[in-house]
Amino acid sequence: MGIRIAGTGSYVPEKILTNFDLEKMVETSDEWIRTRTGMKERHIAAPDQACSDLASQAALNALDMAGLTADELDFLIVATITNDKVFPSTACIVQRKIGASNAGCLDIEAACSGLLYGMELASGLIRGHKKGKYRNILVIGSEKLSNLVDWEDRNTCVLFGDGASALILQATDDDDDLIVASEVKADGNYGDILQIPAGGSACPTTHETLDKKMHYMQMAGQDVFKQAVPAMVGSCKNVLAQAGVSPDEVAWLVPHQANFRIMKAVASRVGIPEERVYINIEKYGNTSAATVGLCLDEMVRGNQVKPGDYLLLTAFGGGLTWASVLLKWC
Ligand code: UT7
Repeated sequence: MGIRIAGTGSYVPEKILTNFDLEKMVETSDEWIRTRTGMKERHIAAPDQACSDLASQAALNALDMAGLTADELDFLIVATITNDKVFPSTACIVQRKIGASNAGCLDIEAACSGLLYGMELASGLIRGHKKGKYRNILVIGSEKLSNLVDWEDRNTCVLFGDGASALILQATDDDDDLIVASEVKADGNYGDILQIPAGGSACPTTHETLDKKMHYMQMAGQDVFKQAVPAMVGSCKNVLAQAGVSPDEVAWLVPHQANFRIMKAVASRVGIPEERVYINIEKYGNTSAATVGLCLDEMVRGNQVKPGDYLLLTAFGGGLTWASVLLKWC
C-alpha cells in the first residue's frame, strides 16, 4: 500500500492588513518589516470567523480537488494553536461543519510544525493498518492568530496572519509512496522563548493575568531565530540522508514562512539555491501551522510541481518543535 496526496486546499480571509496599515497602529515601518521579514501584507479573519471556519473552507477545497465527499474521510486532524474552544476539539467542530460523519477527529498542537506533525501521524495510521482501515485522511493547519497577538506590541503584531491549508493523504493500492522520508523533533527546554504564558492550567485566567497581557503571544525573536536555523538545517539533512537524495535533486524547498532570512539561511546551509525555495510570506505573513500547506496548495494549483519532483518540506515553531518531510510527487 502506498500513499499519495489526493487533494490540497487553502483559505485566507478577505481582509488584508498591509505594512502601511500597521504603520498607523504601532511604531514600525514598511521598510523595517520588509527588510527584516519579507512580509508585505497578511490576511485577518472577521470577528465572527473562527479557526474552524477557515479550516472548513480549506478542507472543502481539498475535498473538491480530490473528488471526494466529506463522508468518505476516515480521519480528520486539525493542527492549530488557536482552537475555537478549549474543548471540544476544533477537529470535531470542522467535522460537523463539513459533514465528515465517518471520521475520527483529533487536534494536535505542535505550533508552526503542526501540519508536518499531522502528516507524520496520518501516514502512520495509513501504513499501520494494511487492510485499508484508514484510506482518506484530512490534515488541516488552521490559525486565527490575530486573536493571540497584542496589537500594541510591534515585536509580534507585524509578523502574524490568519489562514488555513489542508491536504488529503490517501492510501493507494500500488507501492508508490509520496512520503519518502520524514523526521519530527521537539525540545521542550526552550518552551519559554515562544509562548502564551496564561490561560492554561499552569496559570489560569485572572484579572491580573489579563491586566499584564499574559494571554498574548510572547516571543524572544532572536533566540527563536537562532534555534530555528540549525534545527531545520539538521532535520532537512537527516531526511535527505534517510532517502539517499542529494540537495541537487530537490525541485523545491518548501519552508515554514516565518522570516525570509531564516528560509534563505536554511536553504544555503542545506545546499539548495534560492530560486528553488518556495516563498509566499509577502502575501500572508506567518500563519503558523498553515504556512507550508498554503505554499503547497499554491504550487499544485499553479502547476509548479510535476510527477517525480522531490519537495522538501520543513517547519519550526513553539514547543520548540520542528519537522521535515521529503515528498516524491506522484
Ligand atoms: O513561526 C514561529 C517561529 N518564529 C520565528 O522563527 C521568528 C524568528 N525571529 C525572527 O524572525 C526575527 O527575530 C524577528 C523578525 C522577530 C525580529 O527581527 P530581528 O532582526 O531579530 O530584530 P530584533 O528583535 O533584533 O530587533 C531589532 C530592532 C530593535 O530595536 P533596537 O533595540 O535595536 O533599538 C527592536 O526594538 O528592531 C526593533 N523592532 C522594530 N522596529 C520597527 C522590533 N520590532 C520592530 C518593528 N518595527 N515591528
